[in-house]
Amino acid sequence: MHLIEDTSHPVQAFGVVSAHRQLAGGLFELRVTVPEIASLSRPGQFVHITCGDANFLRRPISICDAADGVLRLVFQQKGEGTAWLAARTEGDPLDLLGPLGRGFDLSALGPRPVFVGGGIGVPPLLLAMKQAKVQGASPAAILGFRDRDAVILESDFRALGETLVATDDGSYGTHGFVTALLEARAGSFTSVCACGPRGMLRAVAGIAETHGLPCQVSMEERMGCGIGACLVCACALKGADGGTRYGHVCKDGPVFDAKEVEW
Ligand SMILES: Cc1cc2nc3c(=O)[nH]c(=O)nc-3n(C[C@H](O)[C@H](O)[C@H](O)COP(=O)(O)OP(=O)(O)OC[C@H]3O[C@@H](n4cnc5c(N)ncnc54)[C@H](O)[C@@H]3O)c2cc1C
Ligand code: FES
Repeated sequence: MHLIEDTSHPVQAFGVVSAHRQLAGGLFELRVTVPEIASLSRPGQFVHITCGDANFLRRPISICDAADGVLRLVFQQKGEGTAWLAARTEGDPLDLLGPLGRGFDLSALGPRPVFVGGGIGVPPLLLAMKQAKVQGASPAAILGFRDRDAVILESDFRALGETLVATDDGSYGTHGFVTALLEARAGSFTSVCACGPRGMLRAVAGIAETHGLPCQVSMEERMGCGIGACLVCACALKGADGGTRYGHVCKDGPVFDAKEVEW
């Protein structure tokens, strides 16, 4: 599988928050009008956002959707940066750098790709599934959440294709992990794209390999510069000689062929 070349040229632009809403406890959605970046955005890429004067480093947030000059960003409030972001309201300016990174390669998904997401890893799969459908595929989604209150974007995914939901505690959908749902139905899919916690990605990659399915995973590491200059986001990859090499999640990823990752 050849992942897409990073041919886009990120731009720094000021967007304007056009909508803000709380999706669930601690989970927020911002719509940001920023045509310069939205028009270049591809599934799996991210933007790097300045989160107030007190936060020196930009924060990486995945592009959940991009249409008509507007970026849709869905994020979890964690520390100071995302708290600042959650406090934005309509009309506020936002300093963005993007789109950044290599996203999903949608050229070899086959007719029945499945998009497997866990928790806050779910948002970037929406644009990927949307584009897969535009390309003529019949995509499916398997989404996992902690519990009923943490479920996000379900209706958006259902509008694009078959969508299965699992919760860890069984309070909504199937009781258990996305991996059980994937394992049970792996034979009906032609490829896998996944985003979520590392343990989930490793398990998904193992299932895909067992069933001979191409698998792309979106990795997450702490970031500094976001453009390949500081090495903060290094992740271990398999070298051609059988050893380990290091890649930048911000520039070589965040999406990698699962077979490339040193789990
Ligand atoms: C490519 C990529 C895409 C992401 N997309 C999303 C998304 O769509 N929605 C979402 O909720 N979160 C996403 N994250 C995680 C998000 O960037 C962190 O939760 C956020 O940076 C935390 O910042 P903070 O100031 O609130 O927290 P703090 O813990 O105060 O952050 C301190 C520092 O650590 C960095 N940091 C902390 N946690 C992470 C992390 N998990 N990943 C990267 N840097 C981190 C921050 O950028 C900051 O520099 C993504 C991360 C990456 C790498
Ligand atoms: S964040 Fe600086 S190299 Fe990736």
